[in-house]
Amino acid sequence: MKKLLEHSQEDLNKTSSPGNLCPFSSSDREIHKSKNKSAIYCEEPKLRWSSELDRWLCFDPTLIKEVLKSDDFQVNDYFRTQEILTNHLGLNVEHTSRLLSQFPFCHDGKFHKELKKIYAKKLNEHHETALLQFEASLKELITLKFKPGTTLDLVEEIIAPAIVSAASIFSGIQSHFEGNSASIAQLLDETISVSRRMKINKKIEDFIIKFPKNTSEEIAFTRVGLAVTGLDSLVGALSESIVSLLNRDPNLKLSQIQWDENLPATSIPFIERTLTKDTILQGEQLKIGQTIRVYLDAGGYSKQNPTYSDLYFGAGTHTCIGKSFSKELWTVFTKCLSKVDLRLQIIKSARRDHDYFFNGYYLLMVTVNP
Ligand code: HEM
Repeated sequence: MKKLLEHSQEDLNKTSSPGNLCPFSSSDREIHKSKNKSAIYCEEPKLRWSSELDRWLCFDPTLIKEVLKSDDFQVNDYFRTQEILTNHLGLNVEHTSRLLSQFPFCHDGKFHKELKKIYAKKLNEHHETALLQFEASLKELITLKFKPGTTLDLVEEIIAPAIVSAASIFSGIQSHFEGNSASIAQLLDETISVSRRMKINKKIEDFIIKFPKNTSEEIAFTRVGLAVTGLDSLVGALSESIVSLLNRDPNLKLSQIQWDENLPATSIPFIERTLTKDTILQGEQLKIGQTIRVYLDAGGYSKQNPTYSDLYFGAGTHTCIGKSFSKELWTVFTKCLSKVDLRLQIIKSARRDHDYFFNGYYLLMVTVNP
């Protein structure tokens, strides 16, 4: 934890880092953000220790599933950071603590199951409407914005507003995409700075006070949780996916692209677990308390596994509840764009600064050509 706070202080003193990579320059921290990550994933061993990150790194889709389905691994302790901020630094981060205490990501066992049920029920209630809302909003934006000879920001003007309109159905409150500033979903990243954590706590508070007075706290936090987990992950996945498709053949019109059936790229390149006991994995001795980072992203580059992008949504008891929603949304997205008889050329793109976890673009300037 000392390390976390040292990093946080260092982070506070830094401005933007080149290429939006982690400022604590070390190659292991940057794998999932690097341009040649597919080559790295193929060359890496299935499992290895990283002394830079002080954790195990796992790149093999089959082994990753084994880890995620095993009781020998539990979710990381997100409350440790909260405790330090509150008890050691005297900071008030109660809104974050409240949200985390109801996030299924942060719990295991019976309590996790109960929370997951509540989240899944809320998601199911709004699934259809949110999808229809996304489609209507996307169609309108495409008609309005895709004019030959113009330049536009594909994320800010098309992808983000369409996703925001769907996410707002989940929360019941008009939310917005944070662009290059701190986003609530980033609280799951242990390396973000203290100042960013404070901004996030304020954002949660601002979100919660928008709910009508008679809304129970439990419902308000669940709806905020759904909106924020869905928003960043979807904007990130759609923007990464369209960039990878446009880069495959920049000369094709959107109507000529062979759109992948599944998302070709993800916004959540890895997740982590902590060992609950000493275990031998792939011939290596793993110790209780150690952390393992599993690269879900590596699944997308595996030649052996045809249903690769399923791994983007995790595996085991914590498998994403938004999986089928996200897959359907990708189908709607590709259906709408495949009707456009225009070419998009990327002229500028940027991922969020000070984000060492999520992938995804907040800026994606394109020219629209006949
Ligand atoms: C392409 C978009 C998405 C991706 C790549 C994605 C990815 C993931 C992954 C990898 C996990 C597992 C985390 C872990 O095991 O530690 C997860 C869990 C979760 N996701 Fe998603 N997700 C996406 C969209 C969504 C959406 C749209 C929602 C809701 C509206 C959502 C809500 C959740 C929730 C509540 C969990 C926690 C499940 C649990 O801990 O049992 N996700 N997601």
